[in-house]
Amino acid sequence: DTGYITYDPGFINTGSCMSSICYIDGEKGILRYRGYDIADLVQNCDFIEVAYLLVKGVLPTLDERSNYARLLNKHSMLHTDMRNFFRSYPHDAHPMAILASMVASLSAFYPEMEEKDPEDNIDLTVTRLLSKMRTIAAFSYRQSIGYDFVDPRYDYSYCENFLNMMFSSPVLDYHPDPVHVKALNQLLILHADHEQNCSTSAVRLVGSSEANLYASVAAGCCALWGPKHGGANQAVIEMLNKIIKEGLSVKEIVEKAKDKSNTFRLSGFGHRVYKTFDPRARIAKQMCQEVLNVEGMHDSLMEVALELEDIAIHDDYFIERNLYPNIDFYTGIIFHLMRIPQQMFTVLFAMGRLPGWIAHYLEWRHDPYQKIGRPRQIYAGPETRKVIPLSLRT
Ligand code: SDX
Repeated sequence: DTGYITYDPGFINTGSCMSSICYIDGEKGILRYRGYDIADLVQNCDFIEVAYLLVKGVLPTLDERSNYARLLNKHSMLHTDMRNFFRSYPHDAHPMAILASMVASLSAFYPEMEEKDPEDNIDLTVTRLLSKMRTIAAFSYRQSIGYDFVDPRYDYSYCENFLNMMFSSPVLDYHPDPVHVKALNQLLILHADHEQNCSTSAVRLVGSSEANLYASVAAGCCALWGPKHGGANQAVIEMLNKIIKEGLSVKEIVEKAKDKSNTFRLSGFGHRVYKTFDPRARIAKQMCQEVLNVEGMHDSLMEVALELEDIAIHDDYFIERNLYPNIDFYTGIIFHLMRIPQQMFTVLFAMGRLPGWIAHYLEWRHDPYQKIGRPRQIYAGPETRKVIPLSLRT
């Protein structure tokens, strides 16, 4: 009668869960957010609508979307003291190091969730985080190149604002390129949620202790940073640059990825769940071509990428193991074409995944049957043994 499915406590305590947010069929290559197919959402919605859908469970009406966009703009500035933090980081600090720590520190500047009934402020906290994460992301880039911060504008959309905060300058007549804005909007939607992936599971597990939303999302940022997860898009570009720099042939690198005597894997290929083409990769591949049509091949990286894709998808080793290009392969290329520095790729992945993290945090928090996540283990250590006093130990 609560609308929640009750299930075996053992299932609850493992940190596994039932969820109504995202559906994936890895065999058929299906991805849906709250019942809507990902291609339908990319075709008909913008990132603000999809964020609203994931967090609130329904798509917004025109008025609801306008009000949400107004709130996000209203909360897009950072506390002045927070701005000063950026200047204390080394100029070459990885933006994910800055992002994770700045998101956690939001709870110091906006402690509303530590008050008596955090539920009173949860909507405010969610809106603040959705908006300030974008500002923190852009500022972390400006810090890395020693530029002044550019504040968000009331008359720009979520994606226009981000690109403007990244690239505008008083000495440039900069305006966010509409194709770049469209590509960023689509990529943020494609990254918005993906069931119980590593970083979302981290957010749920930390949130299950009733840690505040900022702290839980900071944990998600740290999990996402790994090259096997959200760091893969940056690893794709590093891999392609390595091929070019070392004068390797694409065939050589594919053979190396098949050779079990080393741990090298093709970044941007394979997936734990999809054993067919990642539906997101299919959409991102189309977007890649659109951006390429505008930007042109400004370096040989694109040629290497397209050759690698062609060889891998026709190679028996990859076909037998259902290894296809995943979303990170095309995302890395698109961001590269948009001249976004590769250290920022995972930061943009985090911006996209944020609504999903928030939705999962709220789902666990509002489920009366969920307890603190407590995965179990199979013990494989030594049998019971007695301590030998230090003086007798040899
Ligand atoms: C993301 O979970 C999510 O939903 C994640 C994500 C999200 O939206 O949150 O989708 C985002 O993280 C996408 C994945 C990004 N990571 C990469 O691109 C890194 C490169 N990929 C691999 O590390 C690997 O494919 C994984 C980690 C992504 C998936 O690993 P699996 O499914 O556990 O595959 P596996 O290790 O069981 O491999 C099966 C076989 C093995 O060979 P055999 O032992 O059977 O002979 O495939 C091989 C592997 O060696 N293999 C690869 C390969 N990936 C798997 N061989 C070469 N290159 C690869 N990339």
